[in-house]
Amino acid sequence: MTADQDVIIVGSGMSALIAAITLATEKNVKIFTKEPLVGGNSWRAQGGMAVAIDKEDRPQDHLQDTLEAGCYHNNVDMVSILVKEGLPRVKKWMKQGMAFDQEHGILSLGMEGAHRKRRILHAGGDQTGLRWMEFLHQQLKNHPNIQKYENEMVFDLVMENGECRGVVSKNTSGNVSVWRSSHTILATGGCGGIFEATTNDPSIVGDGIAMAYRAGAKVSDLEFMQFHPTLIKYNKKVVGLASEALRGEGAILVDQTGRKIMEGIHPLQDLAPRDVVARVIERETLSGNQVYLDITSIRQFEKRFPTITAMCKQAGIPLEKGRIPITTGAHFLMGGVVTDQFGRTTVPGLFAVGEVARTGVHGANRLASNSLLEALVFGERVGEYILEASGKPLSYVMHSNSFLTKAGGSYNLVFPKKEEIQKQVSRALGVERNEMNLTRFLHWLDAQQVKEHLLANRSNWSMEEVEIANMLLVTWLMAKSALERMESRGAHYRTDYPKTERNWDEKQVYHRNAIIQSEGRGTYCEQIIT
Ligand code: SIN
Repeated sequence: MTADQDVIIVGSGMSALIAAITLATEKNVKIFTKEPLVGGNSWRAQGGMAVAIDKEDRPQDHLQDTLEAGCYHNNVDMVSILVKEGLPRVKKWMKQGMAFDQEHGILSLGMEGAHRKRRILHAGGDQTGLRWMEFLHQQLKNHPNIQKYENEMVFDLVMENGECRGVVSKNTSGNVSVWRSSHTILATGGCGGIFEATTNDPSIVGDGIAMAYRAGAKVSDLEFMQFHPTLIKYNKKVVGLASEALRGEGAILVDQTGRKIMEGIHPLQDLAPRDVVARVIERETLSGNQVYLDITSIRQFEKRFPTITAMCKQAGIPLEKGRIPITTGAHFLMGGVVTDQFGRTTVPGLFAVGEVARTGVHGANRLASNSLLEALVFGERVGEYILEASGKPLSYVMHSNSFLTKAGGSYNLVFPKKEEIQKQVSRALGVERNEMNLTRFLHWLDAQQVKEHLLANRSNWSMEEVEIANMLLVTWLMAKSALERMESRGAHYRTDYPKTERNWDEKQVYHRNAIIQSEGRGTYCEQIIT
């Protein structure tokens, strides 16, 4: 096998490993991660994996819940793939040894917000992500066709004639390497780390989106950042996530007086969709109330939620009082690099999977526990597609103009501190947005030379400098998208346009060009330089 036949995967979360294992039956796979292999968002996933596995449940019901939570901004065909293929694919991995929690020999199915049925498979109580990752690492161990490169940051894509032909990386000693590949898969996660309060690993700052955009790939729906309603915050510090499964098992949101804050707000009350709950909590907090999760009704709390118990104990939260103090925080990006059902981006040779991809399954607001299912279904799909497509020419359907080859200018650049970017982003792109804050933020980004950062040659930059430039670019794209969407929908809430415009997407698509129409709904970011 020549080096040109290698598949490169950038990122090491669940979707990356599923794709790698699928591909390694026939391909030589290289996995690059800027962090150690053990770390990142997938390890942190608490809730579980939603799948219509119960005999009383149907993929069609799962589809309906996904669309409703997503405010019908979803791509229905992609959701259909997710829920229909999800079931047999999960069963296959279970046969191979992935174990989920059971009670009396029967799968124990959890409940989460906006699901009308119990359909959440979980493992180790609230350790589903960790158990999946341990299981996948077992499969990868000593695999002759998989090479892992830890602490090696991919900072650019190799582009030739508009096609992606590999990646450029830098290790911790600053050595730059060029790696060629026939297929390159981005699996770098979303960008929660650009916010002050987040459930994400701090390293997740939108690297894949920035790289793909720089290479000319289409990105879309970046205004839709999901805020998780219940991050544990104690003594002014974010401690970690309190899974939505807590509310699924009976926890309720109360203020310091014990008032139930979701009562009368939504028919599903505490199990309303995340965007609804997050906005209520945000407003309660802004009006001076402290919001808590009242967990007194949950039986065997410590056994069912060992991770949350350990986090609270370590932070000194007195669980015997039955209340966990919470706040909202950036959790999951519904938008990202536009892909089709095989993970193909608009750049030939470049694929995207997991949170970095905008498959369209999540719409404007992701349904709880659909992300691990997405990682599984589309991780396998991208692997299967590449195995099948090998040998065929790379050029296909949508062609996009790459300007990366024109990049490489040298500029006198200043790099703002990450904390400053996080502060500015949290103010402008938080749970509630408005034109004034978004415009102010875009001016601030201009002053940080966002466009020059985009065009500069990065070879001599430190990893931190690359991350900062990526943060500037991704937040610029998010703010542009948020400003452009003059309505509220799902996770994108504009105080100056609080209503959902029934035909917003259709109207926008109508005004745009033919390529965009053929790709369907969404806020697309034009290339800054073409
Ligand atoms: C949670 O456990 O609440 C998070 C899981 C998810 O985002 O799907």
